[in-house]
Amino acid sequence: KTGARVELLPLARFTTLGVGGEAEVWFVSNHEQLAEAMAQPYRILGGGSNLVIADAGVPERVIRLSGPLAERDLTPDPELSGGDGIVTGWVGGGVPLPGLVRALQKLGYSNLEGTVGIPAQVGGAVWMNAGTRYGEMFDGLHTLEIATPDGLKVVTPDDLRWGYRDSGIPRNHIVTRVRLKLQRTAPEDVLARMTLADTARKGQPKMKTPGCAFKNPGGVGAGRLIDEAGLKGTRVGNALIAPEHANFIVNLGGATAADVHALLDLIRERVGVPLELEYELWP
Ligand code: FAD
Ligand code: EPU
Repeated sequence: KTGARVELLPLARFTTLGVGGEAEVWFVSNHEQLAEAMAQPYRILGGGSNLVIADAGVPERVIRLSGPLAERDLTPDPELSGGDGIVTGWVGGGVPLPGLVRALQKLGYSNLEGTVGIPAQVGGAVWMNAGTRYGEMFDGLHTLEIATPDGLKVVTPDDLRWGYRDSGIPRNHIVTRVRLKLQRTAPEDVLARMTLADTARKGQPKMKTPGCAFKNPGGVGAGRLIDEAGLKGTRVGNALIAPEHANFIVNLGGATAADVHALLDLIRERVGVPLELEYELWP
């Protein structure tokens, strides 16, 4: 036994939607503990900001990166950095993205400010290539360390087929750490871009939610399509299609996963265009 902390916990408290039953949560803080955790069926949990977890929880163990795998070293690597270009030390997959984005702004390091306001962890945001029209995670990645069932791999973005909301990394491969590729920029310029990206969020609901339900199908946004189908404000149980933005489902308090699933089904039924889910449904 490698000493990972293991606890039976309600997963709702790890999610921004606030829904989800119990599972065995493995808090792993090094590669040895991670390998032990990955020896049985598992799921990897990041910031829980894209998850709809069943009220019965999940049967697999749920891995959460902690300790050194949730720490960041933003010191420029002297061998890989040059001119205005910076490559940082390792940033753990368990590092909260909002704090990282703020820290980079203060240091005057640009490339990830477009992801401001995304309440993810670095690993989850990389796995999804989370972003906005002002920038995405892959704008600032130099190297990725990924734990796979066949062992640890170190890759670069060029090795992956990444795109809109997609890193190309297979499900259940775990982004353990990354090195960031950044650009020295005046802190006030980075801040100005963050403010711009933040302004685009003004119309998003402030309640408990896992963000946008569907990916934008190209051309017209999913939010507008759901809106035009007349579904804003539709309620099932304690889940609601947000009146502010139709691609957000919010928890009014005490929502169940079944409530959210019912709304997702209704949207798919009523919107004429096939929509690809952005949420991850567990199980
Ligand atoms: P989780 O929700 O915990 O997990 C999501 C998926 O990532 C799961 O499949 C999980 O297994 C996997 N995963 C988690 N950690 C790792 C890891 N270390 N290695 C490999 N896989 C992992 N998204 C955007 O793209 N743009 C936005 O503007 C945006 N705005 C949002 C606003 C709000 C208020 C909320 C609640 C969400 C928003 N989202 C947005 C959605 C969400 O933040 C992203 O999808 C994000 O990438 C999820 O990361 P997470 O760490 O929370 O992952
Ligand atoms: N719109 C409507 N009705 C609605 C919602 C939107 O008509 O109910 C219209 C808006 O008026 C606007 C257009 O649709 O003309 C686009 O809307 P918005 O600017 O809100 O952007 P979005 O495409 O809906 C995307 C991302 C968000 C990201 C914002 C801001 C996707 C699926 N969504 O939203 O990401 O925060 O841009 O950059 O790509 C997420 O992925 O979880 C997420 C929140």
